[in-house]
Amino acid sequence: MHSKDREDSRREFIARIGFDAATLLVPVSFAGQAFGQACAPPGNTANPVAWTRDCRTIQARRPASTLTASEITKLKNAYKAMRDLAVSDPADPRGFTHQANIHCHNCGGGGSSIQVHGTLRFLPWHRAYLYFHERILGHLIGDTNFRLPFWDWENPAHRKMPGAYTNPNNATNPLFNGTRALGPADDLDPTSGQPATALAQTNFNDFSPELEGAPHGSVHVDVGGDMGAFNSAARDPIFYAHHSNVDKIWSDWMAADVTHTAPATAAWQNQTQGFFDENKTWRTIRNIDVVNHEPNLRYRYAGRSYDFISIRCFLRWDIVANVSLVNARIRIAPLARTTLRNTMEKSVTHLRIIDPKLPSDRSANYNVYYDERDAKENKGKGAGTYLGMLSVVLMDKESAHGASIPRQADFDLSPKLKALLDKTDDIDLYYVDRNDKQGSRVSKLPFRSVQMRVAKES
Ligand code: C2O
Repeated sequence: MHSKDREDSRREFIARIGFDAATLLVPVSFAGQAFGQACAPPGNTANPVAWTRDCRTIQARRPASTLTASEITKLKNAYKAMRDLAVSDPADPRGFTHQANIHCHNCGGGGSSIQVHGTLRFLPWHRAYLYFHERILGHLIGDTNFRLPFWDWENPAHRKMPGAYTNPNNATNPLFNGTRALGPADDLDPTSGQPATALAQTNFNDFSPELEGAPHGSVHVDVGGDMGAFNSAARDPIFYAHHSNVDKIWSDWMAADVTHTAPATAAWQNQTQGFFDENKTWRTIRNIDVVNHEPNLRYRYAGRSYDFISIRCFLRWDIVANVSLVNARIRIAPLARTTLRNTMEKSVTHLRIIDPKLPSDRSANYNVYYDERDAKENKGKGAGTYLGMLSVVLMDKESAHGASIPRQADFDLSPKLKALLDKTDDIDLYYVDRNDKQGSRVSKLPFRSVQMRVAKES
């Protein structure tokens, strides 16, 4: 993590919740150090030109599964041109391999000093990346109205990969990738692709890591193959449709409430991201330039995640006092139990785990339970003590450079709070790989600290 990012996010975080600074020094785990040689740096970036106003017409990014036949043809032609360019001129930064390598390069190494995962760069960097990628695709097919589609996995009817990416499911399709674990007929597990706990946040610094962990990370893990590790993820064209949806959810969150805003610090707003544009010019763009994508970046989203998820309106989250870690177990003191019982009916309660310690040797989606027996049965959502999911995405498949582990995760306790309060002992959390149906590798989940957070509906 870039030290400035870390310092900024830490300072804001501390200011917001009045937290003990010492507990927050290491919010993210990047076990890896220098990143491997798998991806070259982007090219000659010596003469950066600042992004300037874009005056193309505003066009909609649409759900990938609802594209018309001619839109699918356009999308495929654009990626075909990008793939062809990588062969005809391997040095051209607009070719597909270079495009994929920009992502790889910024996973923490290969010379890049920035880390675009696990930091507050995550949303603006990926938004700018898609924007320039989209402009290049449009340029290659001579259509400035071209916009990327999005894979709206929160829509229960769209849990399969969008058909354009899997039909035909072979290399004649420029949107195909042969490494995917998810098959063309497979549905994403319903617990992946759930942005509800992210959308319920009232502060960007909470929203961003929530969205990044799951659903963002969980969908990476489920698609698998190249998508299952960050250094290779952008070699799969589905990556861009996936990130378009992550970007849409940021847009949805901003649109959902007037108080949902981007960070106000100059450090965040003036932070710049660099990319080659459609004319091979190295451009820099500031975070503040990408916040309002519709007037600035010339796209809007057709459809909102809250067409499928109802977001309740919260004014703020309060941290319940007297919930703490005692001997690595969660203790809800009697006073806190009373508070929670009194507010239960008219509020939503999240259990927040800060800095969970998870294995960084493989990409995985882990089910979390507060009962060991349930964890062993590993029935998932159906189990009474199931809390939610934590997603770990490797930086690279060989696991030489560690993994991105969520620095915080909220579990919505609303349907199970009463049962949890009826259990009077201190609470242990257990995690088990979602695919481990035997529940044979259940482990106790260590973490740095815990909060119980309550939001009242106004
Ligand atoms: Cu930069 Cu979804 O990864």
